[in-house]
Order: sequence, then structure tokens, then C-alpha cells
Amino acid sequence: MKAVALLASPRRLGNSSGLAERLMSILGKSGHETKTYFLNSLSYRGCQACTGCKTRSETCVLHDDLAIVLEDVKGADTVVFASPVYWGDVSAQLKAFIDRTYSYLTPEFVTGPVRHRLESGKKLVFILSQGADEGLYGDIFPRYNAFFEELGLFEETYLIRGCELGEREDHLHREDLLAQVDRIAALL
Ligand SMILES: Cc1cc2nc3c(=O)[nH]c(=O)nc-3n(C[C@H](O)[C@H](O)[C@H](O)COP(=O)(O)O)c2cc1C
Repeated sequence: MKAVALLASPRRLGNSSGLAERLMSILGKSGHETKTYFLNSLSYRGCQACTGCKTRSETCVLHDDLAIVLEDVKGADTVVFASPVYWGDVSAQLKAFIDRTYSYLTPEFVTGPVRHRLESGKKLVFILSQGADEGLYGDIFPRYNAFFEELGLFEETYLIRGCELGEREDHLHREDLLAQVDRIAALL
């Protein structure tokens, strides 16, 4: 089993990264092959809408640092997206990656029947960290997950929302969140 995590905060030791690292550490100990990417250190662009992945290639035709990440995520059984909430959404680092997953979709993704190029059975853990309380930004995960469900990209999705987290290490004092990470790790 392979698990790939994308850390999408510029704070390498921040809350979303810390929660993701805890999850990955448990998965590693339970026998998963693990790989973690710190997106902020990579050089890449968002989707260029060139349609190369629909006309002349089965993969994204951009040859930047995201090429290997897209390939690794494609081959993973479990994918972890870990992002801070910036301006009510995921960080730009994660949004650009998600846009590039357009390359996972087949040319006939709108009409089907084969809508994507991923193996079935993939699981997603979506980790979000925000300063505000839980009354705000509850829409972020459902918005993205609606696309994932419509396209059938993942068989199971899990959400971990870290709310009222400001300083880098705030998550370490949140037993509820740490326990949630451990519970989800046990399901993967
Ligand atoms: C550019 C920027 C935009 C932010 N926008 C929001 C926001 O819209 N809502 C919110 O609750 N917190 C916002 N925050 C605070 C972060 O989401 C919060 O500190 C989060 O826990 C950081 O996650 P990290 O520790 O993984 O980097 C923002 C922070 C920055 C730097």
C-alpha cells in the first residue's frame, strides 16, 4: 500500500503539515510505503488548458516539478491533501495541483463511461487548518468533494478540519484533532 501526502502550506512545521505528518507516520509504521511532498519548495504552474492530456498524451504535458507528484499520486492507494485556509479556500499551492489533476481525466470525462485514468479504490484524506472557528469555511471540502464524487476519483474521502489554529504548533495542544488523525489512520 502506498500513501502520498501533499503539504500545501508554506509553513513546513505548521498545523496542516503537522497533522499530515502524524498521519503519514502512523501509516508508515503500519506498513504503507510513504512519500511526502512539500509543494512550496517545488516549481510549477497551474493547468495551461492546452488540452494536451486529452489529445496527444495520457499525462500532463507540462514538464515541471509537478510531473513526478502527479505520477506518484496516480499510483497511491491513499492521498493526503494538507492545506491552510487562505481567503476562504485551499492555498494556491494546492489549488494549482488540483487544477493539474485535470490530466487524470479522459477525453470523454463529461459523457463517460470511463471518466478518469486512476485505479479504483483510491482514498483521500483532506486536512484543512484555519484561524476561524468551525462556523466558517465548512463549504471548502464539500465543494471539492462534489467534483471528486461526480468524477468517481476516490472511493473513500475523509475530512480533518483544524479550526482556531493560528500559531504553528497549536495543533499539538488539540487532543481532539490528534485523536481524529489516529482514528482515520486506523481506517486506511
Ligand atoms: C494569506 C493568508 C490568508 C488566510 N486566510 C484565512 C481565512 O480566510 N480564514 C481563516 O480562518 N484563516 C485564514 N488564515 C489563517 C490560516 O488559515 C491559519 O493560520 C492556519 O491554521 C494556517 O495553517 P498552517 O499552520 O498549516 O500554515 C490566513 C493566513 C494567511 C497567511
